[in-house]
Amino acid sequence: MSEYILVAIAWPYANADIHVGNITGSHLPGDIIARYHRLKGNQVLMVSGTDSHGTPVTLKADQLGRPVEEVYKYYHDRFLRTFLGYGISYDLFTTTHTENHFKVTQAIFLALKENNYLYTGTSLQWYSPKAGRFLPDRYVEGTCYLCGYTAARSDQCDGCGSVLEPEKLINPHSRDGSPLELRETEHFYLDLSKLEPEVKEFLQQRQSYWRDTVIGESLRKIEKEGLKPRPITRDLDWGVPVPVEGWTEAGKCIYVWFEAVIGYLSAAIEWSRLTGQPEAWRNWWVNPHAKQFYFIGKDNIFFHAAWWPAQLMGAGTQFMHIFTGEDSLLTLPYDVPANQFMNLEGQKISGSRNWAVWGLDALTRYDPDAVRYYLTANMPEYRDSDWDWEDFVARNNNELVATWGNLVHRVLLFAYKHWEGRVPDVDIATLRPQDRELLRAIENGFDVVGWELEAVRVRSALSEIMKLAGDVNVYLDANAPWFAVKNDKENAAKTIYTALRAIDSLKVLFAPFLPFSSEKLHRFLGYQDVPMFGDQYIEEVNDALGTHRVVRYRPPSGQVVSWRPSELPPNQPMNPPTPLFKKLDESIVAEERSRLGGAS
Ligand code: MF3
Ligand code: ZN
Repeated sequence: MSEYILVAIAWPYANADIHVGNITGSHLPGDIIARYHRLKGNQVLMVSGTDSHGTPVTLKADQLGRPVEEVYKYYHDRFLRTFLGYGISYDLFTTTHTENHFKVTQAIFLALKENNYLYTGTSLQWYSPKAGRFLPDRYVEGTCYLCGYTAARSDQCDGCGSVLEPEKLINPHSRDGSPLELRETEHFYLDLSKLEPEVKEFLQQRQSYWRDTVIGESLRKIEKEGLKPRPITRDLDWGVPVPVEGWTEAGKCIYVWFEAVIGYLSAAIEWSRLTGQPEAWRNWWVNPHAKQFYFIGKDNIFFHAAWWPAQLMGAGTQFMHIFTGEDSLLTLPYDVPANQFMNLEGQKISGSRNWAVWGLDALTRYDPDAVRYYLTANMPEYRDSDWDWEDFVARNNNELVATWGNLVHRVLLFAYKHWEGRVPDVDIATLRPQDRELLRAIENGFDVVGWELEAVRVRSALSEIMKLAGDVNVYLDANAPWFAVKNDKENAAKTIYTALRAIDSLKVLFAPFLPFSSEKLHRFLGYQDVPMFGDQYIEEVNDALGTHRVVRYRPPSGQVVSWRPSELPPNQPMNPPTPLFKKLDESIVAEERSRLGGAS
């Protein structure tokens, strides 16, 4: 039975380009899982978008001296190109700056308000007499009152990772050094304490299969500290308007974290409309059997594992009531397989110091599958990992090229040359025990790898497949068709047929990880009319806020490749093969290292 799978990926802030840490942290694992479930025949919806609001973006615009709308669009456009380049196959990658997102956010806000989870209160906020306004939390820096870290922002400490109460910050100062004073300001608060029992129960129900790092950050944290009310509006004019009279006039908007997570829902609704099936989003959002997976970095765990479910549970049936007139519940997250961080050459990735491997830039020198391979083999699933250029070259050359690429190339070339460009025409009933044994091992791989991917263990899934590729190499060495072809062509044909069939299966297993090369191999093997994947394109959408550009994925139609072992037809005409991957020269290690830390 086919399942509804929502692949929800953290929305990147429009204040910096995407680097390899972001790709391996969320976009790539999400894409691998989405591609796997599509091959399985499940109904996948993969969404995200640019997190366009909030102080991270206004701060960047201030630094650049440019209008915030221009800055958000600049980065957004580069995100779209990055995803096309790496084949991150979003059904929809949109932005939070859309009319639809505003409406959905406001409906969630009003649903929580009607269900009495919101109240207004005043708090003391840092006010800049010089600027004549309240300063957003990120503009205020000082010393963390929990751990003593001296470069904490007033809302969040990068030293201990805690969410902070801004007015408790020690030694607060504005970024421009000007003096600040505490003044009273009114805000809406989400009373998370009322939702604590529900959130706890939600987490307990999922505890058995969530990553320990994620349960630790959410359930154990709540058990220790409890959930406290949080303000969900800000003194800022760039953002989603508060749907209550007078609040916009007072210079307030909805807090960026409150609304960005709602993007997972609003993007599904936007996708539905764009595809001309305005009700389709319900399959992933008003369906208790739908499975929602959230791909995020470890700094986002609490927002996704505690706050977002609290927002959804607090809105209850009221959101649908406001939005569509029917009283139904929204679907809750199934899994939040958050990743840890990837460092670079032993140091934390830092955009401002240009200590980063930028996504778009890397594509000018390397193939997307080479980068995808390294980022998957090194994915920080359970602990931080490191991008090391020497390791990148070694894994590319010794694993991707030597174990998989060379295997494919020598078998395809050999078959092409000795069997007139066709798959050897063997009678499958005459295959030998060693042939059947290899094919059985590969067939078994579909279960093993599938099981790993259902549980979002992406890294071990990939190493399982590489191991199978190694088995094919061992099989070829043992059966040596290169010699047999001269005096025993019948047995050589059996070996080459078996190897081709194994490669054809491995192509499917590798496809979620290495979509570009798998598709290339698919064509070499002679499949003309059965597509593996759809394609991605950019589209412009108009609404009351103007124009925004989106990336969309067009699924293939008709018969498609699916997650099952090859039945490669003997005698199928093939296409002339070329190498799938490139060996990298050792010299790039020094070259790439010299780029780090310099001017971007
Ligand atoms: N923009 C946030 C970040 O980069 C992530 C937002 S995830 C969302 O840390 F779900 F809230 F959008
Ligand atoms: Zn701290």
